[in-house]
Amino acid sequence: MQTVVSGIRPTGNLHLGNYFGAIRNFVKMQEVDRCFFFIADYHSLTTHPVPNDLHGTIRNVLAEFLGTGVDPEKATLYVQSDVPEVAELTLIMNMNAYLGELLRSTSFKEKARTQPENVNAGLLTYPVLMAADIIIHKALKVPVGKDQEQHLEMTRTFAKRFNRMYHVEYFPEPLAYNFGENLVKIPGLNGSGKMGKSEGEGNAIFLIDPPEVIRKKVMRAVTDTGPAEPGQPKSEPVENLFTLISVMSDLQTLDFFEEEYQACRIRYGDLKKQLAEDIIRFTAPLREKILDIASNEDYLRKVTRLGAEKARESAAKTVKEVREIIGFKAF
Ligand code: TYM
Repeated sequence: MQTVVSGIRPTGNLHLGNYFGAIRNFVKMQEVDRCFFFIADYHSLTTHPVPNDLHGTIRNVLAEFLGTGVDPEKATLYVQSDVPEVAELTLIMNMNAYLGELLRSTSFKEKARTQPENVNAGLLTYPVLMAADIIIHKALKVPVGKDQEQHLEMTRTFAKRFNRMYHVEYFPEPLAYNFGENLVKIPGLNGSGKMGKSEGEGNAIFLIDPPEVIRKKVMRAVTDTGPAEPGQPKSEPVENLFTLISVMSDLQTLDFFEEEYQACRIRYGDLKKQLAEDIIRFTAPLREKILDIASNEDYLRKVTRLGAEKARESAAKTVKEVREIIGFKAF
């Protein structure tokens, strides 16, 4: 049994990218490993959410974890800010994280480019907070999507540096994990890049989207004018739709549209209709469970209390040991 940690920011509802990049693995791993899954609400503060909205968003994401099958009896499911030990470990780890490496992080550069009006210190040290989340439970495996790969590399750097600096073999080096397969990147519907909450209206399909919204979003997905000759490579928007079909539909459907494309007979409208129905078939039962759980305040309270207790026990042990390693001693 290995220790597993992963988190999701509560910046909106969960989408298919979150599901296939992260949650699907959480549900499998909780059966065999010692798992810690959390809602990364400290992380979400980089974008300054309105206090009144934040709690509701956290509640929705919590209901989404539970509705998609994360089991609080099997995994430790908690809200990050219920475990303030994470903040202390982050402060300590910040002393050995260097400005140059933080500035070079791809996600920091991307954020600095897209939100120049809000390049705060929390954005810069985001990878240190993420490393603290992971090493506070001494995790070995971190189920995440492809976009988090570099953060995991930085986590290993920080963990190794701590060990070297204090001449200990204390923190293990955690790996981004997807059952021996490549990390997943689910594309969005707007023709480029990944599915994401902040990638523009209509780019992401949320697990709680009602069927008519899913149909509308998929039908509006960007395509092209179709292949002009057999064997023509697919444009990025079309490749993205085929990736979605390969994830959401059966092999026969994928093969059918692949053949149609190769023979220049493809009708993107048909492909989209099929894709939308296959997504709805998948999300409808999840949606029902999520909505049901979201209205059950008592249950959510019970889950977060239990999770906080278990997560704090593990985190406090690490922080106590780290304090000893770095030379903080009681008088
Ligand atoms: P976040 O909240 O952006 O995304 C949560 C998880 O969903 C995955 N994901 C995707 N996977 C495949 N295709 C996509 N289009 C897609 N979009 C999102 C992400 O890879 C991630 O696994 N920094 C993290 C949250 C975090 C964390 C941690 C993760 C905080 N501390 C510690 C692991 C361990 C983030 O912003 O993920």
